[in-house]
Amino acid sequence: MQSLDAFAGDKLTALDAKSLRRTLKPTRRLEGAVVERDGRRLISFSCNDYLDLSHHPAVRAAAAEAALNYGAGAAASRLVTGDHPLLGDLEKRLARLKGTQAACVFGSGYLANTGVIPTFAGPGDLILVDELAHACIWAGAKLSGARTIAFKHNDVGDLERLLKAERSGVRHALVATDGVFSMDGDIAPLDQLAKLCAEHDAWLLSDDAHGVGVLAEGRGSAALFPGADIPLQMGTLSKALGSYGGYLCGSQKVVDLLKTRARTVVYATGLPPASAAAALASLDIIESQPALTALPLAKARAFTDALGLPPAQSPIVPVVIGSAEAALAASARLEAEGFLVVAIRPPTVPEGTARLRIAFSAAHADADVMRLAELVRDLIA
Ligand SMILES: Cc1ncc(COP(=O)(O)O)c(C=O)c1O
Repeated sequence: MQSLDAFAGDKLTALDAKSLRRTLKPTRRLEGAVVERDGRRLISFSCNDYLDLSHHPAVRAAAAEAALNYGAGAAASRLVTGDHPLLGDLEKRLARLKGTQAACVFGSGYLANTGVIPTFAGPGDLILVDELAHACIWAGAKLSGARTIAFKHNDVGDLERLLKAERSGVRHALVATDGVFSMDGDIAPLDQLAKLCAEHDAWLLSDDAHGVGVLAEGRGSAALFPGADIPLQMGTLSKALGSYGGYLCGSQKVVDLLKTRARTVVYATGLPPASAAAALASLDIIESQPALTALPLAKARAFTDALGLPPAQSPIVPVVIGSAEAALAASARLEAEGFLVVAIRPPTVPEGTARLRIAFSAAHADADVMRLAELVRDLIA
């Protein structure tokens, strides 16, 4: 039998040969979109801290106070002793923001999707997933044991075709999509997806990891489609909210079932109180400062306008380069100019579409956005 090290070594060599090996690069995130890496200060266009709230004085103070008062960790599953009252407070606020009856907080967004999806779909059920949906939606679908089929990206016609062909005779059908696509920055047609789900007796799950806090005055991508029925509204506390953790907003009964059945609630330690306190402080800011929530998209639009690209729909703008090698080289050139724009390679994105994924933040200076646009113009010329 091959030794474990030989197996790992062969895998690493194969990844190196295709420029697909990933390595960790210790990075200190400082204030105002600045990071420190290898002793250099860079302006980051790769963080998802869209509102720079992870460094906001009130958010930091809330986290510090909760850690000092209640400890650094939750110590147990929420169902044992890990359900600090701050988690319940946070759930009420999230439900209010999303306009749902209730919410359930998870240890992360990844844990939310991998807990929620298997709670509502299982063997014998059908899950239809947008082909570009986030890896944790696919992981949740796989864990559920349900038959899972991809539909073409944002293609309502393809979803309809699949529902017509595959829905009958199946107990439950779930349609899952990102609200804002994490590597493309475009938005799912949630109104049309919801309509199709209603027509074909399917439940819709939307992952708003990149929409909450930055679209529709902070309420997220679903709020761009008033009236669309999205019974499972998932999101994360780890991006615009500047904290860590995930959530599912839905009806009281949906949330009650998650709290007794979702394996990532039952068998995982609760969210640390400091993360909940930070998210609560961020929600105060988001709800009271709509102008702040609009800034990341405005900066992304200024960038796409400067380059003559289609107008940004979210704070994420992809610049597709092609091969992994070329994307790495483009990223290195920007880094030499003082900008951190990490190259995104397969399997995170489809083969041949390695890219610079540019994430805009309220903290970016307009002059830096324009300078980056000039550099990217040269790269893609
Ligand atoms: C669309 C999407 N869903 C879910 C997640 C996972 O969220 P978290 O980082 O909180 O685990 C991410 C982020 O990595 C994401 O981009």
